[in-house]
Amino acid sequence: MSSNCSRYQGKTALITGGAAGFGRATVHRLVDEGLETVLIVDRDLEGATVEYEKVKQRGGNAHVIVCDVSDPASVAKMGDEAATKTDRLDVLVNSAGIGGGGAGRLEGDFESTWDDVMNINLRGTLLAAKAVLPLMKEHGGAIVNISSDGAFRGRPGALVYDASKAGVVQATKSMACDLVKYGIRVNNVAPGWAATEFHFAKAPDSEARKKELLEMESDTCIMRRLARPEEIAAGIAYLASDDASFVTGTTLFIDGGRVGLDTRRT
Ligand SMILES: NC(=O)c1ccc[n+]([C@@H]2O[C@H](COP(=O)([O-])OP(=O)(O)OC[C@H]3O[C@@H](n4cnc5c(N)ncnc54)[C@H](O)[C@@H]3O)[C@@H](O)[C@H]2O)c1
Repeated sequence: MSSNCSRYQGKTALITGGAAGFGRATVHRLVDEGLETVLIVDRDLEGATVEYEKVKQRGGNAHVIVCDVSDPASVAKMGDEAATKTDRLDVLVNSAGIGGGGAGRLEGDFESTWDDVMNINLRGTLLAAKAVLPLMKEHGGAIVNISSDGAFRGRPGALVYDASKAGVVQATKSMACDLVKYGIRVNNVAPGWAATEFHFAKAPDSEARKKELLEMESDTCIMRRLARPEEIAAGIAYLASDDASFVTGTTLFIDGGRVGLDTRRT
């Protein structure tokens, strides 16, 4: 799924988690739509470099910045480095994130994943926005955070992850209020279950697992399948574009019909 429109012509975007999954799909979606420069930020240098090369081969302008969004010093350095690559940023997409493993129960050892999950998914989102704000606030722009359908549902075993994503939903609203004076819109996408490295990277045969996920029927949403990363990127591309010029502080659900719907077969 791609687009030939030119909503992003002349614009610059920074995408955390740009080496894989939704972040990678967004890098290429925005380049498809004419993005002038993309800053690919990830802790995975190798993966980010692969995407950098692809953008360059297509004649695009790209940079890689290695950063661990859970580390405040690393994120501050990322902001400084971004300022050496561009003097303006139109778009920030906060797609770096991790799952909660199997430790998300109150009576389990939820404490073992708390710091990692919270520091990456929630604090990392805020730190990245703070670090690049000087590049955006003089002329305005758009920030898109990534929450999850899990932020809106109670799920057994997902206590820490879902709390981090509920935090992202709430933080999106606060950020929207704080940054409106700079002409910056802040929204979040709440994806449902999607076939990305998030769910197949650690499988013994990751390619086979990816194929399985893309082809499987799922009872988790009324469309009975998983999302492709490009479908999430399409929503991100909308929210970060001028097409969403009157949209801020809100959540776009891209979940095949899950949150708020009865997903049972009738
Ligand atoms: N895939 C899904 O089903 C799904 C559903 C709902 C929400 N989400 C959320 O969407 C976001 C993106 O997920 P995805 O499926 O693209 O994941 P992914 O694992 O495919 O990609 C995540 C990227 O983030 C990077 N990353 C992870 N921790 C980092 C850190 N500390 N610093 C810098 N980079 C880091 C990884 O290296 C990777 O490139 C996450 O926040 C995830 O929680 C995913």
